[in-house]
Amino acid sequence: MENLAPQQFVRLVSAGSTLFYVNTGNERRSEKLLTQAAACIEGMGAPLVWTCTAGLAREGCVVPDTVDPLLALDFFALQPGPLMLILKDVHHFWRDNPFLVRKIKELASISRGQGKVAAILGEGAWVPQGLREDIHLFEQGLPAVEEIQALLGQMREQDPSLADACEAEPGLFEKLVVAARGLDLPELERAVRTLRLSESDGTEAVRELLENKRRIIQESGIMELVLDHAGCEHLGGMENLKYWLKRRESAFGLEAISSGIGLPKGVLVMGIAGCGKSLFVKAIAAEWRLPLIRLDMSAVYGGIFGSPETSLNAAFRTAEAVAPCVLWIDEIEAGITSHGFKTEGGSASRVLGSFLTWMQEKRQPVFVAATANAVEMLPAEVLRKGRFDEIFYVGLPETPAREEIFRIHLKSRQLELADFDLPLLAGSTRGFSGAEIEQAVHSAAFEALADQRPLAQRDLMVMVSRTVPLSVTMAEQIKKIEAWAFKRAVPASGKFT
Ligand SMILES: Nc1ncnc2c1ncn2[C@@H]1O[C@H](COP(=O)(O)OP(=O)(O)OP(=O)(O)O)[C@@H](O)[C@H]1O
Ligand SMILES: [Mg+2]
Repeated sequence: MENLAPQQFVRLVSAGSTLFYVNTGNERRSEKLLTQAAACIEGMGAPLVWTCTAGLAREGCVVPDTVDPLLALDFFALQPGPLMLILKDVHHFWRDNPFLVRKIKELASISRGQGKVAAILGEGAWVPQGLREDIHLFEQGLPAVEEIQALLGQMREQDPSLADACEAEPGLFEKLVVAARGLDLPELERAVRTLRLSESDGTEAVRELLENKRRIIQESGIMELVLDHAGCEHLGGMENLKYWLKRRESAFGLEAISSGIGLPKGVLVMGIAGCGKSLFVKAIAAEWRLPLIRLDMSAVYGGIFGSPETSLNAAFRTAEAVAPCVLWIDEIEAGITSHGFKTEGGSASRVLGSFLTWMQEKRQPVFVAATANAVEMLPAEVLRKGRFDEIFYVGLPETPAREEIFRIHLKSRQLELADFDLPLLAGSTRGFSGAEIEQAVHSAAFEALADQRPLAQRDLMVMVSRTVPLSVTMAEQIKKIEAWAFKRAVPASGKFT
């Protein structure tokens, strides 16, 4: 579905289209864009707008007795063109209503040649079968960069502190525009209003705007903007993954990748829990200096925040508006069980289908990083060659990687590495995942703190001996995952364990 833009709308009208449907989450903005389009069509003037409470109205003047949508359409049919009709709530009535569907269909054909057009605004992409051949579908995308610039420009004129901050720091305005991408205009207005510009400098304002954006994206319930993530230096082992990243960088250049030109399609990272899949995705975003949006697939399939299709669509729109960026699809297999798709009516398979279609057709540079534990449940079409640039398998870390993971977690606690025997620690933690090593360091540090003494090698060794790693309790399962991955994926570290 293409994004609603006044010029494109006008072009379609002059080519003879009379009926439109706009899938929108922001009715006010869609109405504004349509009104702009109407103003560009000779003789059209302000549109007639129908709602189920007021009936028809034009610039505030209500047409009596038009609350019934059929009567409203009759009224519109009698008006001379050129004229635009915006129907706001009609999508609530058109399911199982053949009269209404027929009336709209008739209207589409009568309007042709009279210069009349009807645009239906609704949430969700469902259109009655009978109308599909007559209707042109639009989607209300998030604002384009130009719209953000225009709004911020307007706010700068009205708000002296924003004007002063932009005056004091050249380039700040552009940075704010970049930070604002992915927000809808009312949200952007809200986010900019809360900036404490008089107290902070430009960098602080950009950070604050990003933080506001993070909060707003989080409110969707399915997405999260991950800020402040760490690069490869926090990732122990996984030489193959790091090598892949570096190869990409040297082929295209970091500048090209972070501007989206040389950005690959994406990777699927599968493997054992706690071995650093999420960490790797964060490292990609950090190394390539791209914003990271995490999509929680279990929340998408859960459907609490709207139908899975609508949620997914919102996530794609946000990712495309923020692009270039990394879209991290966590637990891509969440809707699928060993018996097939969990949700009735094939909703999960439709969701996966629309995800694959979007991956194929996305117009903006969005790098998709999908992570999965139970990858053997994924249908073959997800794994087909060419979908992702690479499928990686993250297994249990080997001895050198475990040493590195200990080093990373001890260093992050500002401990002196010379006080620890790292090879001994690595040697004693065979079968541990990265998460279990981190947990051992964490618990040992806690014990030492409780005794009010610095953390020592002995504390770590005690914790290690008390831990029964998942690879022991779930040996069978891990063996199965490894066997699966052996044939299909590239190991993340240099050698298979
Ligand atoms: N290779 C590693 N290097 C450094 N730390 C690691 C590594 N692997 C795991 N960790 C530590 O374990 C924690 C959990 O890792 P992460 O969340 O990336 O695992 P995961 O594979 O995504 O697990 P899950 O399947 O449960 O989502 C991380 O916060 C990190 O501190
Ligand atoms: Mg994870």
